[in-house]
Amino acid sequence: MNKQNIVLVGFMGTGKTTIGEALAARFGWRAVDSDQWIEKQAGITVKEIFDTLGEARFRQLETEALTQILQREQQIVMTGGGAPIKKENQEAMLQGGEVICLNATVSEIIERLRQDESRPLLQGNLEERVQTLMEQRKDVYRFAPIQIDTTNKSVETIVTEIENLLKNKHGKR
Ligand code: S3P
Repeated sequence: MNKQNIVLVGFMGTGKTTIGEALAARFGWRAVDSDQWIEKQAGITVKEIFDTLGEARFRQLETEALTQILQREQQIVMTGGGAPIKKENQEAMLQGGEVICLNATVSEIIERLRQDESRPLLQGNLEERVQTLMEQRKDVYRFAPIQIDTTNKSVETIVTEIENLLKNKHGKR
């Protein structure tokens, strides 16, 4: 059996942070955000890393962060939306815990991200950026064995759905 972690993946704005924190409270596990982990190690924000060091360097730091985080257990791990682009990250995540992909419709994601200015990949025309990136990434999230639609659902509903899915899978937790 893989490790006692829940790893949340999904496109930006699918609710990984909100759901991750609610799951952490429900399970009594630590909530660990890979972007925050990277920022702490680097001493600068993700946006600054993209601006000064470039996306390729960010992706290296992201792989290192995931490797370190997934050595521990009893965590809800919130990953950056681009983490599953690399196959090696997919494998690390699958070995590191239960991987759950959160999904939402394009229009819902655009609404959720409308006020956001921190995400380097969404600078410029938001609608166009989200549509282009989602199209480019349409296959990258399929590796996750559990897929959850978050559109029009409350946090409570989603957390209970995840809890029940894991209970049925393991007969415990
Ligand atoms: C990214 C998503 C971001 C962050 C970075 C790149 C992506 O995380 O890692 O801006 O490539 O989709 P969130 O999904 O938490 O916004």
